Amino acid sequence: VLRPVLRGLEEAPGRVLADVGGGTGNYAAALAVEGWEPLVIDRSRSMLALAAAKGLRTIEGDAHSLPLENESIDALTLISVLHHLDDPAIALAEARRVLRPGGRAVVVAFTREDISDLWLIDNFPISSSWMDETHPPLSEIVEPLPGATGEQIVVEDLEDASIAALASFPELVLQPDWRRQTSYFERLERDHPRELDAGLERLRRDLDAGSAPDRPGRASAISWVKPG
Ligand SMILES: C[S@@+](CC[C@H](N)C(=O)[O-])C[C@H]1O[C@@H](n2cnc3c(N)ncnc32)[C@H](O)[C@@H]1O
Repeated sequence: VLRPVLRGLEEAPGRVLADVGGGTGNYAAALAVEGWEPLVIDRSRSMLALAAAKGLRTIEGDAHSLPLENESIDALTLISVLHHLDDPAIALAEARRVLRPGGRAVVVAFTREDISDLWLIDNFPISSSWMDETHPPLSEIVEPLPGATGEQIVVEDLEDASIAALASFPELVLQPDWRRQTSYFERLERDHPRELDAGLERLRRDLDAGSAPDRPGRASAISWVKPG
């Protein structure tokens, strides 16, 4: 994930970067090592406390209304956040607003195309009801960012606690601590416990039979340059 993010941010006019929905600061910390000056923005205080414990600068704020001046930021990331938002297009408009001319944004998101190949949805079919709704196609995501380019990436690094990374390691789905890191399994456990148990049982049988799903999880990295 980090490689396309760094590529997309290259040539930003400066090093100040807003990591919007930055959560525990995993990516901000990795970007700081690469010379960026990240500011982790998130609406969750408990996530921000974990980011601050990593020595990162944090601001409590909402992606739909960023607590930043117009054209004040050199670069911006939104990593695994869009599917949590009520209105992703507003968050992307905010990204456009706060970036300086020539500023760079990289959005890592799960598009409808990415999730259409996600074996977890076959295994836990009830999830298709909300996954389709919360994961628009790439064309819709890039609409507020004219000229943006997207590339599909395979997510195989468990430092990224997303559903895409977990899908690359089916055996870890059977371990509650791993799956509970994702909002996908949080939701299944809370709202559909019987479907969760049935899907886990199917997966256990498949793994025992040596026919584990072997489709890695995918996401898209969308890069955009603010004109001017
Ligand atoms: C799946 S986590 C991703 C965290 C981090 N970007 C990463 O990839 O490790 C989604 C994050 O978005 C945050 N979030 C959700 N809705 C938000 C909003 N409206 N404004 C700001 N942050 C939000 C959550 O609190 C959470 O930290």
